[in-house]
Amino acid sequence: MVLNGKVALIAGGVKNLGAESARELAEAGADLALHYNSASSKSNAAELETQLKQKYPNLKVAFYQGDLTTAGAVEKLFQSVLKDFGKIDIVINTVGKVLKKPITEISEEEYDSMFAINSKAAFFILKSAAAHIADDGKIISIVTALLGAFTGFYTSYAGSKAPVEHFTRGVCKELQARRVSVNNVAPGPMDTPFFYPQESPEAVEFHKSNGMGNRLTMVQDIAPLIRFLCTDGKWITGQTIFANGGYTTR
Ligand SMILES: NC(=O)c1ccc[n+]([C@@H]2O[C@H](COP(=O)([O-])OP(=O)(O)OC[C@H]3O[C@@H](n4cnc5c(N)ncnc54)[C@H](OP(=O)(O)O)[C@@H]3O)[C@@H](O)[C@H]2O)c1
Repeated sequence: MVLNGKVALIAGGVKNLGAESARELAEAGADLALHYNSASSKSNAAELETQLKQKYPNLKVAFYQGDLTTAGAVEKLFQSVLKDFGKIDIVINTVGKVLKKPITEISEEEYDSMFAINSKAAFFILKSAAAHIADDGKIISIVTALLGAFTGFYTSYAGSKAPVEHFTRGVCKELQARRVSVNNVAPGPMDTPFFYPQESPEAVEFHKSNGMGNRLTMVQDIAPLIRFLCTDGKWITGQTIFANGGYTTR
C-alpha cells in the first residue's frame, strides 16, 4: 500500500485504460478522484464504484463529470477535487480522441475538435496540475505509439498528441525543484472500444502482426507502468515511455 494517503485524480478515469489505472492505484492504496465526460460513461462510473467499494472499503472514491476542452472546466475539476480531498498527489490524463482519415477529408471542425481534446485539454490539465499538485507529485499524460511511427491517415491524431511531449518536457523542468515527475506514456494500438470503429478487420490484423506475440496492447500492459511511474519509478521525469510490444522502435 505504498500510495496510502495519496490522492490520485484521473481524467477519463472510469473506463478502459483510465479504469484499469484506477484499479492499479487503488491496489497500491491511493484515494481516487475519477473524472468522466459523456453521460454514457456514468454507468461505467457506477460499475467501477461498486467494484472499488467492494474490494477496498476504506478507500475514498469520488466522481466528477466535465468536458475538459476549456481551461475553466479543467480548473473547476481541480478545485472540486481539492475541496473534497484537500490535496492532489497524482494526476493522470487519459483524455483523447482518434480520427483516421486522409488529410484531404479532414474538415476544420474535425481539426479543431482533435486539437481541443488531445492538445488543449492536455495543456490545461498540465497547467492546473502544475499549480495544485503536492510536492513529490506525479503527472502522467497518455499519448500514442504513433508518435514513434511514420504513418498516414492518423495525421490529426498523432499531430494533436505530439505537442504533449513538449508540454511535458517544459513542465518537467518547471517542477523539478518540487520533485514532481512529469511523463507521458505511449501505448500501442490498444484493445479497447476506442480503437476499433476506425479500423477494418485487415487493419486490426496488421496492427496485431506488428506487436510481440501477434496481439494488440492491453490496458493491463499499460496500467502497471503508470503505477510504477507513481511509485518506484519516481526518478523518471520529462520522458515519453513507449509500451507497445515492439510496434514501433521508439
Ligand atoms: N485504444 C488505443 O488504441 C490507444 C492507443 C494509444 C493511445 N491511446 C490513448 O489512450 C487514452 C485512453 O484511451 P482508451 O483506449 O482507454 O479509450 P477511452 O476510454 O475512450 O479514452 C478516452 C477518454 O477521453 C475522454 N474524453 C473524450 N473527450 C473528452 C472531452 N471533451 N473532455 C473530457 N474527456 C474527454 C473520454 O471520456 P468519455 O468517454 O466519458 O467521453 C474517455 O474517458 C486516450 O488518450 C487515447 O488517445 C489509445
